[in-house]
Amino acid sequence: MKRLPLWITITGAILMTMMTANGAATKSGSITKSSFGKTPDGEPVDLYLLKNKNGVEVAITTYGGAVVSLKVSDRNGKLGDVVLGYDSLEGYENDKAYLGAIVGRYANRIAHAQFILDGKTYTLAKNNGENSLHGGIKGFNKKVWTAKAIPGKYDQSLELSYLSKDGEEGFPGNLKVTVTYMLMDSNKLRIEYSATTDKKTVVNLTNHSYFNLAGPGSGDILGHILQIEADKFTPVDSNLIPTGELRDVAGTPFDFRKPTAIGGRIDSDDEQIKLGGGYDHNFVLRSWEKPSGGTPVARVVERKSGRVLEVWTTLPGMQLYTGNFLDGTTKGKGGIAYTRRSAFCLETQYYPNSPNQPKFPSPVLRPGEHYHAMTLYKFSVEKQ
Ligand code: BGC
Repeated sequence: MKRLPLWITITGAILMTMMTANGAATKSGSITKSSFGKTPDGEPVDLYLLKNKNGVEVAITTYGGAVVSLKVSDRNGKLGDVVLGYDSLEGYENDKAYLGAIVGRYANRIAHAQFILDGKTYTLAKNNGENSLHGGIKGFNKKVWTAKAIPGKYDQSLELSYLSKDGEEGFPGNLKVTVTYMLMDSNKLRIEYSATTDKKTVVNLTNHSYFNLAGPGSGDILGHILQIEADKFTPVDSNLIPTGELRDVAGTPFDFRKPTAIGGRIDSDDEQIKLGGGYDHNFVLRSWEKPSGGTPVARVVERKSGRVLEVWTTLPGMQLYTGNFLDGTTKGKGGIAYTRRSAFCLETQYYPNSPNQPKFPSPVLRPGEHYHAMTLYKFSVEKQ
């Protein structure tokens, strides 16, 4: 049957409706835009709602490019939110946990908040003990991004861009960044990261969504079953800085090569688990050396809802963070207190502190080069 796309624009909303040749309308995906308020400087902030043909929807704010909500089906077809977030812009302005945000210019930690490029030392703010964390005091998660909605036939995209000026948070080079969220009709959320620079710099961009596949407010995530395609991880010191070693996961609580409950070994008497207060570690993804050919780097199953999350990425590492620092003082959507281990993050990334670890894959970007990374989250269900 021939389908003719018809564009309808309603106040602040872009809706795409598919018309069949005989005029019958079958709804397709849509993108709608609404106001999310203004920053204290008076800068307007928007909220975009991307929906696919199955009703799966993701709300993204231009403030920090944060994923505010992500509603996917359970095994009975009931849609439910699977990420932590805030109801209002104020929540994001006050946020210290990076809920759902785009993190940069350098996601994760840089030891002693400094690094050297071509003999020059660059000094960053120490916003995590002695170290720099997630791009500094006002990282990409606290910036208002410029948005462009790109509706498609089978996917709905939001392109966010931001110019990080030379010297911002101590990093060299004007960095032009684009992050594109694409919600596909196949229930995948694809995130594409691009950047160029006019001076040699370091770049590590990620999304910091906290997932609970049973829904925020449904308790801890210790029963979620996790699989990670990694034979090694990067052990850390007491400041959560990698020691430089790539350690075998075999025989440790970091062996997720077979599906294992997140909580199974999270309180074990293991030095690394103790240093992280649970999992707060980078996994060395096998797919970086040997492209996975269709196998996800991670798979998470929540048995009660039947929801399944699979992750693919072009990046070399992934931080498993089990929300060990969430302490219930942060109140999120609907006034829910986000308690310890009530969500997990799978942050695809260059390894933490790579700018100071020549043996780790290099996060250095030079003028003329193009930083490009892709991470894809796929949602499905498992029958009982
Ligand atoms: C880090 C944690 C940190 C959290 C929130 C994660 O990426 O690994 O140590 O507490 O982000 O900032």
